[in-house]
Amino acid sequence: MGGDHEVGGYGHWNQSVRRLVAGVRQGDASLARPTRGTDVVAKGDGKRIRVGVIGVGRGQTFMRQAAVAGMELVAICDTWQERLAEVGEPLGIATYADYDRFLEHDMDAVVLANYFHEHAPFAIKALQAGKHVMSECAACSTLAEGVALCRTVEQTGKVYMLAENYPYTAFNQEMARLYREGEIGRVLYAEGEYNHPGSFAWAMGISPGVRHWRNNLPATYYCTHAMAPLMVITDTMPVRVNGFTTPLPEDSPRGRLWRQQDVGGLIIAQMDNGAVFKLLQGGIPGHSIFYRLHGERGLMETGRGPGYWGPGSVRVVHDEWDLKPGELTERVYYPRFPDWAKGAASAGHGGGDYFTNHYFAQAIRTGEQPYLNVYRGVAMSVIGILAWKSLLDNGNGYAVPDFSREESRRAYESDRWRPLDLDDPSAPPVSSRGKRRDLIPESLREAREIWERMGYRGDDG
Ligand SMILES: NC(=O)c1ccc[n+]([C@@H]2O[C@H](COP(=O)([O-])OP(=O)(O)OC[C@H]3O[C@@H](n4cnc5c(N)ncnc54)[C@H](O)[C@@H]3O)[C@@H](O)[C@H]2O)c1
Repeated sequence: MGGDHEVGGYGHWNQSVRRLVAGVRQGDASLARPTRGTDVVAKGDGKRIRVGVIGVGRGQTFMRQAAVAGMELVAICDTWQERLAEVGEPLGIATYADYDRFLEHDMDAVVLANYFHEHAPFAIKALQAGKHVMSECAACSTLAEGVALCRTVEQTGKVYMLAENYPYTAFNQEMARLYREGEIGRVLYAEGEYNHPGSFAWAMGISPGVRHWRNNLPATYYCTHAMAPLMVITDTMPVRVNGFTTPLPEDSPRGRLWRQQDVGGLIIAQMDNGAVFKLLQGGIPGHSIFYRLHGERGLMETGRGPGYWGPGSVRVVHDEWDLKPGELTERVYYPRFPDWAKGAASAGHGGGDYFTNHYFAQAIRTGEQPYLNVYRGVAMSVIGILAWKSLLDNGNGYAVPDFSREESRRAYESDRWRPLDLDDPSAPPVSSRGKRRDLIPESLREAREIWERMGYRGDDG
């Protein structure tokens, strides 16, 4: 779940698809623009942007990519002192263990790669300190935080971007281009999957401590990777959600992984154009990252197959009675990045990490909020919260407020509902089991060995 788990990349599996028709043309900058409102800025154009990163795990990706987007990395922050020194020393930049002191550093922008459920208060502080913010997912862990974050962005006028990288793989950018050109008409139904199981060693390695958020996160919460590409491709917003979950049988051998949450979370989202999206997130055996969209006159989807992303292909289908002159009933091909973005091919997460930095820097230079602005970021984050509320309420539907309008969001300004506070006995449950799962002593011993090797010395319960 949300761990760097790059396997292979794509382009290696071409032989397995027999209906290859053609590679997409290169050099078309519009490929990299998911929808309205962004223009290409060449690397390093314009004013200098000094950036600081909090979180030296995932945060290292942003440290590496900053220069590619023409930004200068000037400071990093983490409370894990040994790792902070290990990462900071070779870079020769300022290091801080205290976030408030870090914010005093002379810089223009902050990238948040701290804990998943703590982004909003850190973003608000940074905005109020006059910094632009790019935040890892999720944008917020309660609806009240979402409201406060939107208000702060409006009050400060600073750039805010959710660093959702999954829309920017070559195949998702290609589907965005096809959608804009009307290839399948308006979307009626879509599916997004971010199902990321892994070995015990991997799962524990990215979740140090019994109390780590990855071991205690309701199954619907890590939802932006499934949802963001679909929202970006179709330029739609969620208006209502229902949640479902897949519990692990109590006697399952996978209980060894003893994360508290269920293995899979499902969200059914109604969008503002009436379409219905089905989103799967979790760690059910059978890894799948997949997107499919059915429209008024056809279907497009990513390829199924081996590798983190599958084969990286796009399949476009039209029923024969819908064919326009020259169209095929089916075509499968391997889209590439546009020429100007060649650096993307070597960037993490299928190139997505290249584009988030690029669009963040571009927003700062132009003074225009990015496409993945605070309203979209908050909307795609709160559907996980609302779906979990729905699940605990027999699957009843929950409205998603329009966070761009005060009259819609005001009702949620005090909604601090949150199952993530482990020491609060009145907090809602994090799994459909209701109660916490007992830890298996043998597995806990193995996990502790992994954490010790990592140098983790926190409270692991
Ligand atoms: N978009 C992606 O593809 C992707 C991939 C991996 C992780 N992520 C996201 O990145 C974020 C970080 O994940 P991670 O994998 O690095 O694991 P993590 O959440 O365990 O790491 C967070 C880091 O922040 C530090 N930290 C926490 N609180 C702090 C504080 N108050 N002050 C200073 N430092 C603090 C921790 O010590 C740790 O090093 C999460 O939100 C995760 O969802 C996104």
